[in-house]
Amino acid sequence: MAIVLIRQDGKLDLWKKAFLDQFPDLPVYSFNEPHPRESISMAIVWKHPEGTLEGYPNLKCITSFGAGVDFILKDKSRPADIPITRVVDDALADDMAEYVLTAVLGHLKNMDQYARDQFAAQWQPKPYSRIADHTVGIMGFGTLGSHVGRALSQVGFQVIGWSRHAKSHPGIVVHHGKSGKKEFLSRTSILICLLPLTEETKGILNKSTLNQLRPGAYLINVARGGHLAEDELIPLLNSGQLSGACLDVFQQEPLPSDHPFWAHPRIKITPHVASVSDPQSVVPQLVENYKRLENGEALLNQIDSDLGY
Ligand code: NDP
Ligand code: OXD
Repeated sequence: MAIVLIRQDGKLDLWKKAFLDQFPDLPVYSFNEPHPRESISMAIVWKHPEGTLEGYPNLKCITSFGAGVDFILKDKSRPADIPITRVVDDALADDMAEYVLTAVLGHLKNMDQYARDQFAAQWQPKPYSRIADHTVGIMGFGTLGSHVGRALSQVGFQVIGWSRHAKSHPGIVVHHGKSGKKEFLSRTSILICLLPLTEETKGILNKSTLNQLRPGAYLINVARGGHLAEDELIPLLNSGQLSGACLDVFQQEPLPSDHPFWAHPRIKITPHVASVSDPQSVVPQLVENYKRLENGEALLNQIDSDLGY
């Protein structure tokens, strides 16, 4: 049995080295080097080119290098009916909480506008808001959403969540399902999307959803670009229904240089960096799953392919 790593973002060698530094005898190969295809039982992938999961007759598990698995499920050429697993990692959750806290507090204190004013040498004080003025609504109250929710609660925000199933969480009301969505949205002044991208959640950040938020709400999308109906965002910003948006993910990444989001003064753009899997932290759990596969044991962090997360 052996592992193949498939990704094309320039980080393949770094990851292979991280595996071998921690597990020197591990049979791990990069997809673009000669490797024994018949021996491969596990493929660890990130935005792999379609078709690269074919031709492994003994593949038993496909694993995402990250938390999301949408790019695996959309590859129709992948072998069906084998388990798909993903990363669940404390460092990934901490990084996401730090990113969201930065974005939320920067919004309250107009930090983006001051950054622009500075380049124009303009001294222009603006009214700011306080933690007590806001209710932060987290769409997708799973591993990352609940961690982010706790971090925001700890600094004093009123936090509410929205998930598919009912859940109870100390100090946080979690609305759920279609019936809980309207109340969740109407209470929210800062919306954070941490949903997985599935058939049900595709395009969920559209004008119908965003018009139900408190007027002047702020949007933070750190989930997937496919959640946002991109054409509908700028009119909502221009009408004042949204006061701004912080976007880390886009339908097309890298965001094309002629995309209207780049030039909009109330859109903040980051290049899909809200939280990035750290090889040191993540390699042990990936290898743990490989060993479980070898021993025929239940895998960690397996997703439900029918639900899509
Ligand atoms: P989880 O699977 O742990 O959580 C998903 C949450 O979404 C769950 O609470 C689930 O509800 C809820 N959900 C799913 N479908 C629906 C629905 N139809 N209606 C209502 N709620 C729904 O995922 P993670 O928290 O680990 O990750 C979330 C996403 O964050 C990833 O899929 C990835 O796309 C993105 N991500 C982005 C990163 C970045 O750098 N920008 C980094 C890491 C992840 P329930 O609990 O009831 O099942
Ligand atoms: C992930 C991501 O899904 O980085 O982990 O987007």
